[in-house]
Amino acid sequence: MRIDDVLEAQLASLPESRVKDAMIYSVTAGGKRIRPNLLYEVLKGYGCKESLGDAFAAAIEMIQTYSLIHDDLPAMDNDDLRRGRPTCHKQFDEATAILAGDGLLTYAFETACSCPADSKLTMRSLRILAEMAGPKGMVLGQNYDMQGEQGITDFSQIQKIEKYKTGCLLSAPLMIGAVLAGRNDDMIDRWHEIGDKIGLAFQVQDDILDVELTSEELGKSSSDIRNHKVTCVSLLGMDQAVKTMNDLYQTAKDQIISFEDFQSASLIAMIQKIQDRRK
Ligand code: IPE
Ligand code: IPE
Ligand code: MG
Ligand code: MG
Ligand code: MG
Repeated sequence: MRIDDVLEAQLASLPESRVKDAMIYSVTAGGKRIRPNLLYEVLKGYGCKESLGDAFAAAIEMIQTYSLIHDDLPAMDNDDLRRGRPTCHKQFDEATAILAGDGLLTYAFETACSCPADSKLTMRSLRILAEMAGPKGMVLGQNYDMQGEQGITDFSQIQKIEKYKTGCLLSAPLMIGAVLAGRNDDMIDRWHEIGDKIGLAFQVQDDILDVELTSEELGKSSSDIRNHKVTCVSLLGMDQAVKTMNDLYQTAKDQIISFEDFQSASLIAMIQKIQDRRK
C-alpha cells in the first residue's frame, strides 16, 4: 500500500533509539490504514494526485497509532494484544510505550509540515489535524470514555463519547482531503458531518465486533466487558446497535453521492468494505 511506503521512509530517517524501534513496531504491525486511505480517496474523487496527501496521510496514521498505544496502557484499557501483536508496552515497557506515543504525535506534525500544497492550505490542514486529535477532539473523547466507566444510561451520552473519541480522527482525513483539493468552508463542514456519521458508525461497529469476535479474530484484546464499558451494544442491545450502525453508514453514503463535483464511486466502495468488515 502507498501509505506503508510513505510511513516506512519517514520513520526510517529518525535517529536510532529504543523509542524509534517501538514507533516502527506499532506503526508496521498491520493496521487497516482506514484514515490515510480516506484522505487519498477524497483527493482522487476531486481529481487530485495522491502525492499531494502523502504527508497528512502519514501524519494521521501516526496519530491513530499513538492513540492506540496509549489506549492500551494499563492506566487506560490495559490490553495485551493490538494489530495481531503484543501491545507496545508488553513488547517494550510502559515508559517506552508512553514515549513512542509522544514521539508519533509530535513527529506527525513535523511530517505534515512537509506537505507540498500552498502554505495557506497546509496551515489550514494542520489546524484541523490538531483540533481533531487534541483536547477538542479525540483526546476529549478518550477523557469522556474513561469517565464514562462510572456508568452511563443515556444513548446521547454514548453518542457523544463515540463521536469524539473515534469520529474526530475519521473526520480529519475527509476534511483535510477537501482542504488540499481547494474546497471552500461550506464543503469542509459537510465533510465534517459525514465524518461524524462514519465515525459513530465505525465505533458502534467496533463495539459490536468486540462482543461478537474473539481476540484472535480481532487481532486485539476484546476488553469492553472486562472493563465494564458502557457501549452502544450494552445500552441498546445487539439488534438495535446493528440497525443504528447501518443507518449511519447509509446516510453518510447518500450524502457523499449527492456531491456534484465529486467522483464518489471509489470512496463509496471503500466505505462499503468498512461496513462489511468482520475484523
Ligand atoms: C481502532 O481503530 C480504534 C477505534 C477507533 C475503534 P481501527 O479499527 O481503525 O484500528 P487499526 O488502525 O486498523 O488498528
Ligand atoms: C479507542 O476506542 C479509540 C481511540 C481513540 C484509541 P476503543 O478502546 O474501543 O478502541 P479499541 O477497541 O481498543 O481498538
Ligand atoms: Mg479505549
Ligand atoms: Mg481500547
Ligand atoms: Mg473497542
